[in-house]
Amino acid sequence: MMTIQLTEEQLAVKAAAREFAQSQLLPGVIARDKDMIYPTEQMKAMGELGFLGMMVPTQYGGGGMDTMSYVLAMEEISKVDNSCSVVMSVNNSLICWGLDKFGNEAQKQQYLTKLASGEWIGAFCLSEPEAGSDATSQRTTAIDMGDHYLLNGTKNWITSGGTSSVHIVIAQTDVEKGHKGINAFIVEADWDGVNIGAKEDKLGIRSSDTHTIMYNDVKVPKANRIGEDGFGFKFAMKVLSGGRIGIAAQALGIATGAYELSLAYAKQREAFGKPIAKHQAIAFKLADMATDIEAARLLVYQSAMLKDRGENFDQASSMAKLFASEAAMKHTTEAVQIHGGYGFVKEYHVERLMRDAKITQIYEGTSEVQRIVISRNVLKGNHYTPIV
Ligand code: CAA
Repeated sequence: MMTIQLTEEQLAVKAAAREFAQSQLLPGVIARDKDMIYPTEQMKAMGELGFLGMMVPTQYGGGGMDTMSYVLAMEEISKVDNSCSVVMSVNNSLICWGLDKFGNEAQKQQYLTKLASGEWIGAFCLSEPEAGSDATSQRTTAIDMGDHYLLNGTKNWITSGGTSSVHIVIAQTDVEKGHKGINAFIVEADWDGVNIGAKEDKLGIRSSDTHTIMYNDVKVPKANRIGEDGFGFKFAMKVLSGGRIGIAAQALGIATGAYELSLAYAKQREAFGKPIAKHQAIAFKLADMATDIEAARLLVYQSAMLKDRGENFDQASSMAKLFASEAAMKHTTEAVQIHGGYGFVKEYHVERLMRDAKITQIYEGTSEVQRIVISRNVLKGNHYTPIV
């Protein structure tokens, strides 16, 4: 039988992330969620421990690790605090990996080094009031003024919108050219004309920092465009393919966290003269949870391994995100049901995980968008070599 054999280094990363999550993130997570308190100290510690630039080569201040290590860390941290893990995912996948893969040397020296160490946090600015799933319909414009671009527009639901030092902004530079007239720009948050709107009051991941950002006549140097002219949409799609592996790992962590809490609770809570785990009604829920979590884990690890092997991972990452996020939503709801009345109060953690699960079906491409990506690949006959 083929097995996925994790290396000693990968196992050590998983253990370190678990230890950090249980000792540093669990205390206070309920209060941070309730009062929408940004985890400033926790994010600082995550930067110092190397969790914010895990896949960046060491020469740029990163951890020089593979995607599998990143996924294992995401999973452990997401069992506990998804406001931290979403910042971790965006910074690692959409910002650091994007700059490392597609940025030039000057951009890496100027920005990546600070982002990989967690000294700076990055925000990925694609979504707009009228362009979410339909990402080519960008209204934000960047007009070529000769020595710089003039950026104008509004971006919505931006993770780390108020706390980030650097934004990667996707904007139209030539409307006539459709998606080929879109570019990606590195914008510093304290430049003139960058205005941050109010913090969103959200259903889940409540202590993460989500804002609308307005760009009003922001002068962006030519040197801050990522890649060749017109590369911005493909840049966004490529980094989102990688990002979806991170969010899939987040969903896997949420489902696993809810399952572990439910299993422990069901073994000790008694009803009708025996632990509720011994009642088939509960035992079958635990069986379904365990099965879907294993299936999700295989899809998530497979997408990470394909990326690490340098193979195409677009379809695999969409499958992983679709399956893991749907499983997270379904089984966190069941976790609340298993906990009964206790599940409905904050102290038992599962209601928070249920609220957090919902966003994994929405951000970095809704479940419907993942089905678009998967079905287009299936219909084109695109195949990858399954790893398991
Ligand atoms: N890699 C490289 N190129 C890609 C690509 C990929 N993965 N996917 C598409 N492209 C290319 C296509 O080949 C095409 O180029 P050509 O014309 O040269 O062939 C071009 O991009 C346009 O592609 P489509 O025709 O497929 O575009 P579409 O308009 O049909 O849209 C879509 C496809 C999959 C729906 C896409 O718009 C999409 O992914 N939408 C969702 C956006 C999203 O995920 N937003 C999340 C916001 S960020 C966020 O949530 C972060 C956070 O804070 C947590």
